Amino acid sequence: MDVVDAGKSITGTPTNYDRFKELKAFDESKSGVKGLVDAGITHVPRIFLRPPEDLAAGNSVSGEPAQTQFKIPVIDLKDISSGDRSEMVAGVRRAAETVGFFQVVNHGIPTKVLEEMVSAARGFHELPQEVKAEYYTRERMKKVKYGSNFDLYKSRYANWRDTLFCVMDPEPLDPQELPPICRNETMEYSRQLRVLGKHLFQLLSEALGLNHDHLEGMDCTKGHLILSHYYPACPEPELTMGTTRHSDPDFLTILLQDHIGGLQVLCQDEWVDVPPVPGALVVNIGDLLQLISNEKFKSVEHRVLANHRGPRISVACFLTPHLYPTTRVYGPIKELLSQNNPPVYRETSLQDFIAYYDNKGLDGKSALDHFKLLQ
Ligand code: OGA
Ligand code: NI
Repeated sequence: MDVVDAGKSITGTPTNYDRFKELKAFDESKSGVKGLVDAGITHVPRIFLRPPEDLAAGNSVSGEPAQTQFKIPVIDLKDISSGDRSEMVAGVRRAAETVGFFQVVNHGIPTKVLEEMVSAARGFHELPQEVKAEYYTRERMKKVKYGSNFDLYKSRYANWRDTLFCVMDPEPLDPQELPPICRNETMEYSRQLRVLGKHLFQLLSEALGLNHDHLEGMDCTKGHLILSHYYPACPEPELTMGTTRHSDPDFLTILLQDHIGGLQVLCQDEWVDVPPVPGALVVNIGDLLQLISNEKFKSVEHRVLANHRGPRISVACFLTPHLYPTTRVYGPIKELLSQNNPPVYRETSLQDFIAYYDNKGLDGKSALDHFKLLQ
């Protein structure tokens, strides 16, 4: 039987248009979602429309009060290198084992560095289209690239978001590769993140009951990407998404968000806001840490709502060696396994994991399922 009836698929998504052609036209414009907004569109183009079954799956407009009273924990790192760490370790453990998200304050990165990073990210995305277009590419190995929707041709609908993607480490990035408008700020932020990343992995190692340098010894701190996201104001935010629900393809993410809001995390089947806290950074467990911790730590789904207000700027740092060529394979940490806690995942190289994640695109399903051992 033909499932297409009067231009609707069985799920009701309009199919009577040449989607590929429209995706390609958007891609070839090299001007991202910002380009559409600058051109004065008043409706969300159909390549961005959330399918009806997706719309039915939860509130879609930022600012609606969350249904639950649950709050993302805030952890104070002021005693990180001197005082008693036990409270911090306990807080990190509780968050990592449950909601997978926490915010950190007194993390050591000066507010000025954060503010300058956000302004520089905004500055890049607000450059003239022809200047940004020079950085626009889908080349896999390119270290500095601007684009919109890494999974444009795979996802069910495009997201209302543009991104500048920069591979900072472990091979030092030549600063000249970065756009001049955000060069110094990105280099400085990256330097500061390296230090904070090490502190966080020490706390996480201790929270797993391991030596403080265990995760660093597994190269979890070896390498990071900086993704500067730009979410333009959207004329019909309820019809699309800033970022589709997903979990992150790294060990740990450190996220800097501006004051607009819209980030939500899935907590006991409810979408809970991760409210902007001035000066704070959002930290979340990534898929690879869930894998090596044998599911003790949770890589939890999150999403970003589109918004009438904007632009919203966020700068995500993915701590992972990413595509850096290494022969290391990652599986559940042996010290954590026992007869009662057998391995849940098989071992994988990072290259295989990333290839699987990127090829799948953001589809609301966890890439980790593919690496599960049959029980
Ligand atoms: C991400 C992400 C959230 C945000 O980059 O993976 O979830 O607020 N970003 O931009
Ligand atoms: Ni994410």
